[in-house]
Amino acid sequence: MVKALAVHSYKGGTGKTSISANLAALYAAQGYNVCLLDYDFKAPSIQVLFKTKIRNTLNDFLEEKCEISDALHDVSKKYQMKGRLYVGFAGASTDSMREMMTKDRRWEMKALQRTLSAKNKLGDELRADYLIFDTSPGVSYSSINALATSDFVILVSKMDEFDMEGTKEMVHGIYDSLGRKTGLLLNRIPTEQFPLGAGQKELEEAMARTFNLPFLGVIPCYCDIQVNGGKYLFSVEQPKHPFSQELSEVIKRVDQQLKAI
Ligand SMILES: Nc1ncnc2c1ncn2[C@@H]1O[C@H](COP(=O)(O)OP(=O)(O)O)[C@@H](O)[C@H]1O
Ligand SMILES: [Mg+2]
Repeated sequence: MVKALAVHSYKGGTGKTSISANLAALYAAQGYNVCLLDYDFKAPSIQVLFKTKIRNTLNDFLEEKCEISDALHDVSKKYQMKGRLYVGFAGASTDSMREMMTKDRRWEMKALQRTLSAKNKLGDELRADYLIFDTSPGVSYSSINALATSDFVILVSKMDEFDMEGTKEMVHGIYDSLGRKTGLLLNRIPTEQFPLGAGQKELEEAMARTFNLPFLGVIPCYCDIQVNGGKYLFSVEQPKHPFSQELSEVIKRVDQQLKAI
């Protein structure tokens, strides 16, 4: 059975795209078959990382212009991965983005049905082990569709008040009603705020109390990630980088959570 993960956040810039793409690459490097889908139709970014010639987009798939397999691009050979990594891109032209903004609720309900059936197809036809959605921040239909299709949600937050307060509200307002199992991942934590030694345990407990969610980890803000964002996949080019190593730990915690479902 394919396991679906959505990487979501309240605000933009928390690191969803970097995290979802690197998690997908790490799973594929371990030998799993992975589909990474860009469901951030408002600000598509995954195409920047993979620099692949795009045949069909996920917009084409949702518009019933092609099947899900026609919108996936196998990039595993390029990165010499043990497993397969298939990537689905969102249409990145201004017209495509604008077009997606005009969709009504009925269209989005149909898009949800197509997304749910794609999940089953990817498990059956491509023998996918993991399906990972990158999403738009906050409450947008495409994100809700990705969340509703997922078995587990990785909720990413920075540690400033804007993010934390919005994240709290979203946990009550959306996640509780969707009933999706969710874990909290703190990212881009400045060195000044980064807890050392026993402080990490304290932070973990404080976060678990505040959000009432399992804690998936805390990732510092790395200047080189900031500077090289979107240039390449850190987990592939720099597997020893602490960002890559921390995401490998996140994978272990996510898998523990998935096992408990
Ligand atoms: N741990 C990190 N340390 C430093 N910069 C990061 C980290 N994670 C992500 N970034 C950078 O933050 C910016 C936003 O990341 P991105 O993945 O595009 O976030 P989102 O998809 O949530 O908008 C990018 O410049 C990215 O390189
Ligand atoms: Mg993004």
